[in-house]
Amino acid sequence: MNFADSEVVGSILTTAGYGLADTPEEAGFVLINTCAIRDNAEQRVRHRVRELRALQNRKKDLRIGILGCMAERLQDRLMTEEDNLSLVCGPDAYRRLPELIAQVRRQSGEQQAAVELSTTETYADIEPVRLGSNGITAYISIMRGCQNYCAYCVVPYTRGRERSRDPQTIVDEARTLFERGYREVTLLGQNVNSYSWEEQGDTCDFPELMARVAGIDPRLRVRFATSHPKDLSDKLLEVMAAHPNICRCIHLPVQSGSNRMLKLMNRKYTVEWYLDRVDAIRRYLPDCSITTDVIAGFSTETEEDHQATLDLFRRVRYDYAYMFKYSLREGTYAWRHLADDIPDEEKTRRLNEIIALQGQIALENNRLELGREYEVLVEGESHRSKERLFGRNSQNKVLVFDRIPAAGGPAAEEGTYRRVRVTDCTAATLLGELVQ
Ligand code: 5AD
Ligand code: SF4
Repeated sequence: MNFADSEVVGSILTTAGYGLADTPEEAGFVLINTCAIRDNAEQRVRHRVRELRALQNRKKDLRIGILGCMAERLQDRLMTEEDNLSLVCGPDAYRRLPELIAQVRRQSGEQQAAVELSTTETYADIEPVRLGSNGITAYISIMRGCQNYCAYCVVPYTRGRERSRDPQTIVDEARTLFERGYREVTLLGQNVNSYSWEEQGDTCDFPELMARVAGIDPRLRVRFATSHPKDLSDKLLEVMAAHPNICRCIHLPVQSGSNRMLKLMNRKYTVEWYLDRVDAIRRYLPDCSITTDVIAGFSTETEEDHQATLDLFRRVRYDYAYMFKYSLREGTYAWRHLADDIPDEEKTRRLNEIIALQGQIALENNRLELGREYEVLVEGESHRSKERLFGRNSQNKVLVFDRIPAAGGPAAEEGTYRRVRVTDCTAATLLGELVQ
């Protein structure tokens, strides 16, 4: 989401006449787009701001600004604490950036802040500049904000109320990308399943939006993130089943395998509900991969709760998981009402157990792939060797393979689809060979 936001900022600023610099050394203004979801994300930003101070000592006219959720969360406090900052700008105020930057440059020394949240801003009319793009895959933001108020989560406070973007602008953006040679778009929102648009009797929900984007061209792959389990509907699964170019991968953050924890987290579903949704995915889309997010050591989590999470992981057998230690965030429900009472070493132990189990499951899942063939969208050179390429299958698994087929035939090219047979694997990657 931040990546997509940076592309909107890039567009606003290039339209205002600014250009992109390749390095901070070449820049007159450094803008850091930030995440506030866990404390370690914020500490990395603080570190970066302090590193840039050294550069500022050499380049007296270099200015630094903080964008995004950390700007929204801390506002003026951030500029008091980091006095080398010239501006803070929250996620709904990016249209004001040209004006703020001009102010900073006019009145050197004066710090600028814009942190008002909006109930309507979706940047729908802004065509993002594609930053560091491979020309093949792109993100499209379809909604902003979140009002689910999970007890641990700062997002509803930093990104404001949920609002959906005009579907026509989304379809147009996807079509333009396809016409420019892009072959995959990922539709982004905090909870895409509650996407909803109504205008003069014309309504569009998320399954309908997916069908419209998938209908642009069968050669355009469509992905989406993130789904809240409480809202994952059979209707969406039916639309996915009807469109082979909607990728067979669903990110379904579970957060915990314990009903007591889920209730305390205000997730609004039970383990039983979640497993029913997993069954529905497997029924409609037998070859679909499922990935998740999980938090270890939330308030009052017992060993029994933790074991329930491990059990859930053994049952679902995720293809990938983002695994986190609970981080207390100021302003959240948990900050106001629930103790952060699991010692850090205990959180770490639980997290490490989840990571170890998931590593084993991912490796076992990947071993089942040996000998299977997939259509892969070729994305670029493998990091290790120029002779090898990488791409992803519909399930979002990375495959690495030789550019030239062993049995002869044309070399694979970036931005095209090729058939690849899996010959070997690690827990993270499938290795394969091109099939004629
Ligand atoms: N502590 C740890 N993890 C968190 N997440 C959100 N808030 C917190 C927090 N306070 C995780 C959730 C979410 C993902 C994006 O980040 O798992 O799905
Ligand atoms: Fe945070 Fe919950 Fe909203 Fe996700 S659904 S952004 S975890 S409040």
